[in-house]
Amino acid sequence: MIVSAPESKNIQRPFALASLVETLSSSLGPNDAGFLQRVYEDGLEKYRNRLHQIGFHRLDTVLDAGCGFGQWAFALASDVEKVIGVDVSNNRINVCNQLAKYLGIENTHFLVATLENLPLPTESVDGIFCYSTIYLTDYRKTLKEFYRILRKGGRIYICTNGPGRYVYEIIQNPRSTPDFNMRLYALKTFRNTLLGRWHHLSAQNGARIMSPSATKRRMEQIGFHILGIGPEGSVEVTRMPKKAEPFHSATYLGLTNVFEILAKK
Ligand SMILES: C[S@@+](CC[C@H](N)C(=O)[O-])C[C@H]1O[C@@H](n2cnc3c(N)ncnc32)[C@H](O)[C@@H]1O
Repeated sequence: MIVSAPESKNIQRPFALASLVETLSSSLGPNDAGFLQRVYEDGLEKYRNRLHQIGFHRLDTVLDAGCGFGQWAFALASDVEKVIGVDVSNNRINVCNQLAKYLGIENTHFLVATLENLPLPTESVDGIFCYSTIYLTDYRKTLKEFYRILRKGGRIYICTNGPGRYVYEIIQNPRSTPDFNMRLYALKTFRNTLLGRWHHLSAQNGARIMSPSATKRRMEQIGFHILGIGPEGSVEVTRMPKKAEPFHSATYLGLTNVFEILAKK
């Protein structure tokens, strides 16, 4: 179903945000500092556009699963009643709490936890948004946990990586810093996938490569109904005045790069 994007309140304070991000980055290591600055460098509008495009507005409670430094959670906060951000990293949740405090955002709540074992009641959220995190978890357990906490009729969005992303990282070695070698991370991700490893995945140990067909199949087995699947940025349920630009290319060297799935319980 396609509906029109609504006008909605805008809670952004771009100047406060930019200087706050700079201050917070100074207490982080080079990799985290670069990541924090990158995700906030153009403000939150591009995230809000994308969230509207996939119908993540006018919802009650939404989980940002693996919220990182919180840019999606804060973009969500302007258009839904309540956002719960969960991440395994204390540092990242600390930054989210400081950003929420200084920006005066009161409808976000951040928790340190793993996606495979969420400290949230059964059928307690209306939406689950999971951008670029599920590949660091045992996705079979995480999807079951998502199904448990989502209310009937609720929607779930997952964005994750196929092999093209890691081939790109091996060849290009983008954004490596003294404390994080992207090429090594991508090689470890291939190793984990080939050896069938599901445990201790992390930025240090490497992730798992996922495939659109296997992820879709697993979601359907668990009970989700797929609404849309395709390259990152392609799924659209709300007609936008101007369709949001994808953040990643659909393929790299002919291999699936970053892909997304929108589904319903
Ligand atoms: C690539 S970042 C993406 C963060 C954010 N979603 C974004 O789009 O910027 C991946 C995040 O997943 C978190 N993470 C890794 N493993 C996790 C787990 N098992 N449970 C919860 N969060 C996890 C990391 O701490 C990190 O913040």
